[in-house]
Amino acid sequence: MPVRKRRSQRAAQFVIPVKAGNQTCFAKKMGKTMNGNMIIKNAAELVTCSGFTAKKGKEMADLHVIEDGAVIIKEGVIEAAGRTGDIEKQFKKTGAEYSDFDMIDARGKAVLPGFVDSHTHLVFGGYRAEEFSWRLRGDSYMQIMQRGGGIVNTVKATRQASAEELMQSGIKRLDSMLSMGVTTVEGKSGYGLDRDTEIKQLEVMAHLDQIHYLDVVPTFLGAHAVPQEYKGKQDAFIDFMAADILPQVTDQNLAEFCDIFCEKSVFSIEQSRRLLTRAKDLGLKLKLHADEIVQLGGAELAAELGAVSADHLLQASDQGIKDMSVAGVVATLLPATAFSLKEPYANGRKMIDSNCAVALATDFNPGSCFTESIPLVFALATLHMNISTEEAISALTINAAAALDRADQTGSIDAGKKGDLIVLEFPSYTYIPYHLGVSTVEKVIKQGNLVFDKEKGGIIHC
Ligand code: NIG
Ligand code: FE
Repeated sequence: MPVRKRRSQRAAQFVIPVKAGNQTCFAKKMGKTMNGNMIIKNAAELVTCSGFTAKKGKEMADLHVIEDGAVIIKEGVIEAAGRTGDIEKQFKKTGAEYSDFDMIDARGKAVLPGFVDSHTHLVFGGYRAEEFSWRLRGDSYMQIMQRGGGIVNTVKATRQASAEELMQSGIKRLDSMLSMGVTTVEGKSGYGLDRDTEIKQLEVMAHLDQIHYLDVVPTFLGAHAVPQEYKGKQDAFIDFMAADILPQVTDQNLAEFCDIFCEKSVFSIEQSRRLLTRAKDLGLKLKLHADEIVQLGGAELAAELGAVSADHLLQASDQGIKDMSVAGVVATLLPATAFSLKEPYANGRKMIDSNCAVALATDFNPGSCFTESIPLVFALATLHMNISTEEAISALTINAAAALDRADQTGSIDAGKKGDLIVLEFPSYTYIPYHLGVSTVEKVIKQGNLVFDKEKGGIIHC
């Protein structure tokens, strides 16, 4: 049976002509020509990250590594993982034919779950290189925002961009993420701030999810900034989002999460509570951009509302950290943003020591953090945040999957989960941060299909 992607019913409503090139190839590969049967054996280290829920505190350091490991993936789903000898015996017992399975000999290589990038803003029009130059000269992100630049700049360009243009740039960005080992990515709207553009961004994500190898998890971030037409009328804008846009998003099943930029001079705690409570009533799961620049109580609010994750958290209070730990909110840290904004990093060490589940993500966006680099995130987390290599791996796999409420589907090498794996060029996971700022990923397997191979020149198209 071919491996199929989810939400096809939704994506089908959105018609972007499928042209020659990558789009056709992705669709064909996933739907027709790939069977999702794969055996990987002799791995020097099989780093399973085993588990079906977020790892909290000390649990994050345990990667459940199997030496001389093997994995069987059948029709896209992991069937078994263990030592090569045991797995081969088990395979023979099933009477299955080797010829129906692709085989990868991972001798001298480490195998891990595919990375999950649980916080990105990957669909947008235009770029803001000029603003980056201003920041290099000393202007702050908030100063630029207050004089009419920042997010609203990208809003202008995204409103003007066609769905087709957003698709094409989206594909390139997903390709780049895939090449660094990402197999699931979250993407947010929030560069429309009006009905048509917010819906357009979400529809583009649905279509990307359908045609690209990566799974794209859509988040509605309509309250990302106050648009020009609502200047000084934040409350009215929140009402508009809650009453007019949210119901359309949920009726059309266009998002799994609702997020908000809860920040001084953007949206207050009260406004955030109002919008997120409405979103929850309509069946969406919650995320917050919380305590990024000012300590506002966003972490506490995330715990109060039962959010799946709270993200950024550079200024999270001790109480907020405690509340997240008790409520099981995944604390998602975005070190490349702090680095890019020259702000102090979130206190990931304290969060892990306080028994929080910590995830790491890129925050890829055109303003505060124009990078999709997983190697950069690793470098910053391990060298500058006092997070161990093992903890960083948990944070980019099982805990990142938990930040998307998908820890039961991906983020670890366990039977029953999607066959989403990476093979490194090196024998141990310790090479990931060691090869500073450079991807160590040699192969990517998505639902049992080899979709990226450095040795074969990159992404495998038909
Ligand atoms: O996560 N903080 C708010 N939103 C984004 C920035 C978006 C932008 O600058 O375009 C973030 O950093
Ligand atoms: Fe963000």
